[in-house]
Amino acid sequence: MIAILKKFFHNKKILITGHTGFKGAWLYTMLESFGAEVYGFALAPNSTEDLSSLLGIDKSEKSFIGDICDYRALENVILKIKPEIIFHLAAQSLVLTSYAQPAETFKINVIGTLNLLEILRKNNLDPVVVNVTTDKCYANSDSGVPFQEGDSLGGNDPYSASKAMVEILSNSYYQSFFKSKEQSSAKYGENTGTQQRSLRLATVRAGNVIGGGDWNDNRLVPDFVRFLSRNEDIVLRNPASTRPWQFVLEPLYAYCLLAYKLSLEDGSEYCSAWNVGPGEDSCVSVLELAHIFLSKWGSGDYKLDENSSNKAKEAKLLMLDASKAKRKLGWRPVLSVEQAISMTALWYKAFLEKKSEIKDFTYSQIEDFLALYDNHECV
Ligand SMILES: NC(=O)c1ccc[n+]([C@@H]2O[C@H](COP(=O)([O-])OP(=O)(O)OC[C@H]3O[C@@H](n4cnc5c(N)ncnc54)[C@H](O)[C@@H]3O)[C@@H](O)[C@H]2O)c1
Repeated sequence: MIAILKKFFHNKKILITGHTGFKGAWLYTMLESFGAEVYGFALAPNSTEDLSSLLGIDKSEKSFIGDICDYRALENVILKIKPEIIFHLAAQSLVLTSYAQPAETFKINVIGTLNLLEILRKNNLDPVVVNVTTDKCYANSDSGVPFQEGDSLGGNDPYSASKAMVEILSNSYYQSFFKSKEQSSAKYGENTGTQQRSLRLATVRAGNVIGGGDWNDNRLVPDFVRFLSRNEDIVLRNPASTRPWQFVLEPLYAYCLLAYKLSLEDGSEYCSAWNVGPGEDSCVSVLELAHIFLSKWGSGDYKLDENSSNKAKEAKLLMLDASKAKRKLGWRPVLSVEQAISMTALWYKAFLEKKSEIKDFTYSQIEDFLALYDNHECV
């Protein structure tokens, strides 16, 4: 499949919104390694230590810095590039920030997505669109039953609610405009033999992602690294919280696979929502994650933060049922939770020890990861 994907993406014009972020920078790099012509639209990186800065992505002539809430700015870039595939990742992506800046979070996540879809609709463009939301878009009763794609959407905190809104918005645009265009074109094409393809749109809901180059505040692994690099104990806020931890390349590979499937003749069959979570083995508590991370790091310890005011605010249990993606996309996770944590710890160690070589190290992790698919070393 890797060979097929590389051939498919070779020379394809791709736009990633949010390419200066953690996942966007990895996706940009992976697609470039496939030989794709990759463009990006996002805000400037937060710091020179962000992955996109370290890899020089933000300095590329294909990198456009702008605000997704600025309709004209986004439209200009899209009309200039005319991308064949769009991966939409730009977002205010942090739950805790969404409590501090709820209006900004709804604006970026909902209006930003609305701008993208409206630009495509108004300009009659028909790329493949992979719209990245989150596992947090589900109404979460903390029951522990893994979410399926048809489960109720919800989300109490502003971030989760905004992503549930993005799901509803995407579905509405697809059902109201893009799907109906494809259907009427199919009908018309029957008579003329000139059937036109229309925009193909799908959403992807992934769980918490770990990997090198993430420096976002209030995310577990970046917090671990900040403590450890200062020779301090890691402080754990919610040790019992269980999450489906995934290495960053696992969902990114799923996004690429989905884009490929959406591009096929029968690609409209894939225009829906997809869960891409790891197996149940990878759902470990924050405490277990800390244990594994410290064992891979080789030094350091942790302590519990009993007084955290944020304790009650995060949902306790989130698991995804990814059987649809496994069955219909042929996607599967290839790393165990230990391997995912190990690759993450190794990236940060390499960064702290030899920053100048981190670009090569990042590329080598992508190659190592993709080789697992070829070698069928699945968990
Ligand atoms: N990291 C995770 O664990 C995780 C899990 C599930 C879903 N997601 C989703 O994946 C996507 C990427 O996440 P990430 O971890 O890379 O986030 P990130 O915060 O590292 O990056 C966000 C990106 O969006 C861009 N952005 C933010 N506001 C913008 C604006 N107003 N205009 C233009 N660009 C803007 C930023 O510049 C950056 O490039 C997000 O949609 C996020 O909700 C992330």
